[in-house]
Amino acid sequence: MRRTLLRGGAGAAAAALLLAAAPVASADPAGGIGDPYFPDYGNTGYDVGHYDLRLDYAPDTDRLAGTATLVATATEDLDSFTLDFLLDVDSVRVNGKKAGFSAAGEHKVEVVPAAPVAEGERLTVVVKYADVPSSVKWGDGSVTGWNRTPDGAIALGQPEAAWWWFPGNDHPLDKATFDVRISVPEGYRAVSNGVLTGEQVIGGKSVYTWRQDQPSATYLATLAVGEYEVHEDETDAGLPVYDAYAESLGSLAGPAKASIERGPEILEFQEESFGPYPYNALGGVVAGPDADLGFALETQTRPVYSHAFFQRGSNTYVVAHELAHQWWGDHVSVEGWDDIWLNEGFASYAEWMWSEHEGEGTAQELAEYTYRSYPADDPFWEVTPGDPGAENVFHSAVYDRGALAVHALRTEIGDDAFGELARSWQQKNAHGNGTVEEFIALSEQVSGKDLGELYDTWLYSQGRPPEVPGAEDSP
Ligand code: ARG
Ligand code: ZN
Repeated sequence: MRRTLLRGGAGAAAAALLLAAAPVASADPAGGIGDPYFPDYGNTGYDVGHYDLRLDYAPDTDRLAGTATLVATATEDLDSFTLDFLLDVDSVRVNGKKAGFSAAGEHKVEVVPAAPVAEGERLTVVVKYADVPSSVKWGDGSVTGWNRTPDGAIALGQPEAAWWWFPGNDHPLDKATFDVRISVPEGYRAVSNGVLTGEQVIGGKSVYTWRQDQPSATYLATLAVGEYEVHEDETDAGLPVYDAYAESLGSLAGPAKASIERGPEILEFQEESFGPYPYNALGGVVAGPDADLGFALETQTRPVYSHAFFQRGSNTYVVAHELAHQWWGDHVSVEGWDDIWLNEGFASYAEWMWSEHEGEGTAQELAEYTYRSYPADDPFWEVTPGDPGAENVFHSAVYDRGALAVHALRTEIGDDAFGELARSWQQKNAHGNGTVEEFIALSEQVSGKDLGELYDTWLYSQGRPPEVPGAEDSP
């Protein structure tokens, strides 16, 4: 499923020029979908509805072999198109016929179908591949979406993750459903998103099938292979719960479980503010120390957590953060990566809401604490969460100042309007995308207030704003 970029921007303008020049689109092989921060990410010319991934993985050699079938539709007349992918490709077929293919740009494969495909026609792409993902570097080599461990690997990263394990249209504008079938040596687990629909031992291999039948952005798909202890359950609402804890967690398994197992309770609390949980499954994966992740990620229905979050004991805040992302980021995704505040500002604020609910500090107290923890001359205040820049999408300002911005909004419009805004945002953009600009417009509509100055102060102006939001007196 794909929505067209509503917004201008250099990428979009360049793409428009290119299309105007060519009657049959031959997309620029290095070009992208038009993201303002990552202009070569994603692709134009088609819309993926479903990914069917049939994989085999060998933990000792890190060899991943796969057949990916993309069920897509051409959105232009195409005589070629590109897929984001880093691994070695063996063959490509388009609509049943052998297609030409070659590497393009830094992370793409250009595919030339045997015959042009007309706009609106089906585009069924079958890619066969085999490679060693940990050996494949991209960019300066410091970033990888393939995190190898002694007993397996975890595919995880933002925004770059998918192109280390399956070919696709790697941008949140093109969401799709997923089936992942993965075989691993017996005794190993393979965990992905959505519902576990099968678990068999065939020919000495464990075969797991996972189904995510609600649209997902490509970076929200994950795959974790290794030795895991699994906890399966069902929520009060009847949703299947599947949590996986790396065996290598050792004594951290206790605090990890004490945190993750509160997921259903946290979700129920969040539903009161954000509306119904958008998915039909839930859970979490806690990686072992040797995965060395250093972060958590809101992979759809089943976030992945670094062991490090549980080193000092239980931590339900990181769980509240990643579960809030199921609404803010997953269900309603950014339209471009410059909209990152909609993800991180709200997920961070959800931690303050959970704290208030738990009686461990009100949102107001946390806003005051956060504001004061960055002195006025701290460079922190130079990063504007509303447009942080590509190198700062995960800067602490996007999280902490981003949460202060949400607090400013909530205290200005009041709890009722805030809840109504959150739920109506989710409903309007269900399983789709949204921009900060659209969110601002909706907030003014719902509250009936002119909020221009508030957003300008908290999202778009450098320097520390003079007052803590929501405070009775200035600091
Ligand atoms: N969205 C993730 C979170 O808020 C952050 C991921 C950061 N990514 C990374 N590769 N360090 O928890
Ligand atoms: Zn986050």
